Amino acid sequence: MIRIRGLNKRYGDFDALTGIDLDVAPGEFLVVLGPSGAGKSTLLRCINRLAEPTSGEIHIDGQLAQSGGASLRGLRRQVAMIFQHYNVVPRLSVQKNVLTGRMGAVPSVLSWLQIFPRKDVAIALECLRRVELQDKAGLRTDTLSGGQKQRVGIARALAQQPKVILADEPVASLDPKTSRTVLNYLKQASRELGITVVCNLHQIDYAREFGERIVGVSGGRIVYDGGPEGLTDEVLKRIYPGLDEGDARSRSAPAVAAAAAPALSQLKLEEASA
Ligand SMILES: Nc1ncnc2c1ncn2[C@@H]1O[C@H](COP(=O)(O)OP(=O)(O)O)[C@@H](O)[C@H]1O
Ligand SMILES: [Mg+2]
Repeated sequence: MIRIRGLNKRYGDFDALTGIDLDVAPGEFLVVLGPSGAGKSTLLRCINRLAEPTSGEIHIDGQLAQSGGASLRGLRRQVAMIFQHYNVVPRLSVQKNVLTGRMGAVPSVLSWLQIFPRKDVAIALECLRRVELQDKAGLRTDTLSGGQKQRVGIARALAQQPKVILADEPVASLDPKTSRTVLNYLKQASRELGITVVCNLHQIDYAREFGERIVGVSGGRIVYDGGPEGLTDEVLKRIYPGLDEGDARSRSAPAVAAAAAPALSQLKLEEASA
């Protein structure tokens, strides 16, 4: 479903991604694991063309991903995003937030006026049912908890009826119990609907628990590609170079979290400009 060959991304003279080759199969739930600054967000942004690769090719469902014009619109329809900070519109109802996922499919005049055909409302409600928020459809989104807002984020992505969902640290702002709930909804929807998911995470525990396949990224390169059982101490040290043995063994040591904490302010800026 996603085929990446020779992807490089430079910012000035800094190599954010180097020589990325990656294939993601249809319906696969892939976790990209790596510390802050590893290049995880840059990878997702290159896939949906929020960032322009310096070189290399990305095919989505057989189509070459390109910037500009119809091909970019086609790409954006097929690829949905889920963000760390949810990116929901607080004052809109839950249902309207999910309906924004239908905007690419509805005539723009109608969606500007926030008028959606009955069929699209039905799709939105069905997506809310998948994350068990159908009862909250009419509430203002700012009355929901963080975990519920992210479930709205998942429902909005599903409402787009995409082939691919790119989730950029979707649970980085949530407590562990809520994080697991949210990741479960995402994984279950992906499995039931056959949607290919690339999910960036920095927490080793969740990667082990949810990743059928894990791609470890460090310093802009892929340093591991395999199942959760292959995440040995040696592999973890490759992904998290600063990690000492004790940290690697305890697996969820605070040092890992600190080393892995994403640059929140930068992410917010990027999302705001996206
Ligand atoms: N727009 C940008 N301009 C310059 N450097 C950037 C930009 N976006 C990301 N970077 C740099 O690229 C590296 C990878 O960033 P990012 O993909 O956000 O990593 P991650 O998501 O794994 O934390 C970081 O060193 C970051 O500072
Ligand atoms: Mg990131």
